[in-house]
Amino acid sequence: MSNKTLRVKVWRGRTSGELIAYDVPRFDNQTVLDVVMYIQRNLQPDLGFRYACRVGMCGSCAMNVNGKARWTCRTHVSKVAADGELEITPLSNLPVIKDLATNMEAFFDKWAEAKGQFKGERTRKDDFSRVSPQSRKREAADAGIECIGCGVCYSSCDVVTWRPDYLGPAAMNRAWTLMNDERDIKGAERLRAVAGDAGCHSCHTQGSCTERCPKQLSPTASIAGLKRLVMKAAIEGDL
Ligand code: SF4
Ligand code: SF4
Ligand code: FES
Repeated sequence: MSNKTLRVKVWRGRTSGELIAYDVPRFDNQTVLDVVMYIQRNLQPDLGFRYACRVGMCGSCAMNVNGKARWTCRTHVSKVAADGELEITPLSNLPVIKDLATNMEAFFDKWAEAKGQFKGERTRKDDFSRVSPQSRKREAADAGIECIGCGVCYSSCDVVTWRPDYLGPAAMNRAWTLMNDERDIKGAERLRAVAGDAGCHSCHTQGSCTERCPKQLSPTASIAGLKRLVMKAAIEGDL
């Protein structure tokens, strides 16, 4: 194998399947998504995978690369394949639709279960809400708001593997940002949703989600924030 060529093993199939090896030419600044696209365009036209923006905004291109979940459009081959080999498999903790494409339905259903939708009370006739950028709650909301829904954290979370009903890091990060949104009026309902058995208290705080999040968010800190709110509400008899 020349250093101008990558040996790439790619998962083909669904729950059952196999790794198939391909040789892909290397080039400067090549991303893992470039590699997958090369394979589909030149070697394996029916390879299934998902992507859209190619610039780290849409969150659709996540896959396991050499055993770790990553956003493939922003992951350079030179950083993850020092020995010239790549193994690319679908995200963990989600059913596989085909090859590298997973079904994200359960992941997003859990955002809904965690009451991840904003609910305000103003109408279009009201003035804008004014939230100070310096307020403590605004800073907490800002810290979690840039989630792109890629599923990297969800795929990396052992608790999701052990108990599939666990809401998971992304849904609870979303819930925490909304708990800190001063315009939102659904806080009590949301807190009840994340206080249950499959909610924030199941998190073991090991931090794989935070270590892997490509947007450098900290779902671990968000979940810790939810635990504090749940505890306070329980002590005050509000749950
Ligand atoms: S810190 Fe909690 S949510 Fe994050 S990976 Fe660990 S158990 Fe999962
Ligand atoms: S919290 Fe990070 S890893 Fe998880 S879905 Fe959002 S952007 Fe992706
Ligand atoms: S293709 Fe959109 S984030 Fe990678």
